[in-house]
Amino acid sequence: MQQVNLGMIGGGTVGSGVFHALQLNGGLMASRIGVKVNVRKVVVKAFDEPRPYPIPKSAMTTDWQSVVNDPQVDVVAELAGGTTFARTMILAALKLGKPVVTANKALLSAHGEELFAAAQQYGTNLYYEASVCGGIPIIKALREGFVGNRITHLYGIVNGTCNYILTRMKLEGADFTAVLKDAQAQGYAEAEPSLDVDGYDAQHKIGILASLAHGFWVKPEDIYVEGIRGITRTDIQFANQLGYTIKLLGIIKRVEGRGAKGGGTGASKPSPHARVQVSVYPTLVPNTHVLASVNHVFNAVFVRGDVVGDTLFYGRGAGKDATASAVLSDLADAALDLKFGTKHRVPPFVPHERDGAVAPINEVISRYFVRLDVVDRPGVLAQIAAIFGQARIGISSVIQPEGHEGASVPLILMLHDAPNGAVSRALAKIGKLAAVKSAPVMIRVEDLC
Ligand SMILES: NC(=O)c1ccc[n+]([C@@H]2O[C@H](COP(=O)([O-])OP(=O)(O)OC[C@H]3O[C@@H](n4cnc5c(N)ncnc54)[C@H](OP(=O)(O)O)[C@@H]3O)[C@@H](O)[C@H]2O)c1
Repeated sequence: MQQVNLGMIGGGTVGSGVFHALQLNGGLMASRIGVKVNVRKVVVKAFDEPRPYPIPKSAMTTDWQSVVNDPQVDVVAELAGGTTFARTMILAALKLGKPVVTANKALLSAHGEELFAAAQQYGTNLYYEASVCGGIPIIKALREGFVGNRITHLYGIVNGTCNYILTRMKLEGADFTAVLKDAQAQGYAEAEPSLDVDGYDAQHKIGILASLAHGFWVKPEDIYVEGIRGITRTDIQFANQLGYTIKLLGIIKRVEGRGAKGGGTGASKPSPHARVQVSVYPTLVPNTHVLASVNHVFNAVFVRGDVVGDTLFYGRGAGKDATASAVLSDLADAALDLKFGTKHRVPPFVPHERDGAVAPINEVISRYFVRLDVVDRPGVLAQIAAIFGQARIGISSVIQPEGHEGASVPLILMLHDAPNGAVSRALAKIGKLAAVKSAPVMIRVEDLC
């Protein structure tokens, strides 16, 4: 049987997971694809670091150059993380014409365009299934399974930490800070949680998916991002009362025409150029929609194609084993491409949409949940309604719960479809009213239909 030698850079959570999975199922994989993947060396920083799965000292080295440059190494897997060392190492491997597998979403988000161009230039390939949603094969689905579709909508719960926190806030009626602290103690959130809770990890992943789905590079700075720090248990409770669950959603939607809503399945005529909403923010999702039931650390991606209709992918978005499964899938592709000499059978990324552009968030249209803290006196609602009316923004429902004590009471409004910019401007005015006691909270609503 043909053999492919793998040089692994990184033997931590993902790296040791890959080492273990190859020991467990490498034979099975070989029997399926007709190529055996052998681990030749694993690069680490220090031999004695604790690892989720053991790697024999004889298999480890601290010298990455000796691994990348080893003529016996056919494929390189970058499982180290970061955006400096990893970039240098991947470029060095690609220059030697070696295929590279990476799990590094931060690197692809920052330097993907350069790395894919280098792969093309040096006649090799860069595989990245593990960079988005761990064990869910969403890259393969978009790139190959939906190759005959125009992707009109993609909604993703792509950050397990945020989903875990929001799930517990809803189920336990708990505050963000308390749940975050507990999640950190249990290892579900990092000691420095910003990458997750402020939405940047989701931004990296949604940027990769948007680029792949729409055929042009979506830059991180073009993606509108809001995290979940501002979500309170009050928001979660009122959203639930209205029939919604709050999820951190990555949203990728084709926008037909300036300021218009995304098109539906099949029926609308697609515009010649992709104009796409690409954003990450807390979103009210109907309790009846399947995404509302994706709980704890699980991820899910809902994809609508103009031919296939609605599809859903669900699974673990991180962790040593789930992520290793995705890396093994890429290793199988790399091994098959080497076996058959088909280096570009699977295009890593094809920038085919020269005129594609991200729609500015102010032009994006959605519905809204608004929470205000107001002084409970006659005429306040009329003042607020007048500002929305002047901005031509319709109010679809109002809740002012009874029995609240103190200087202010919550006032919940649901707004009809309106551009983000118009709603933001109206809320800025409302926030200045004497009767409004704190900054208005605005959460977008997606009906996902
Ligand atoms: N963890 C997940 O669930 C997950 C899921 C999807 C994607 N990813 C991505 O996978 C990548 C790896 O994540 P991880 O969680 O496995 O990280 P990790 O546990 O910190 O492991 C990193 C590994 O790389 C080695 N390393 C780091 N810098 C190095 C250097 N300069 N020279 C030599 N070795 C170096 C470390 O060596 P030592 O062992 O000696 O420290 C360690 O073995 C990241 O890009 C991450 O975003 C992770």
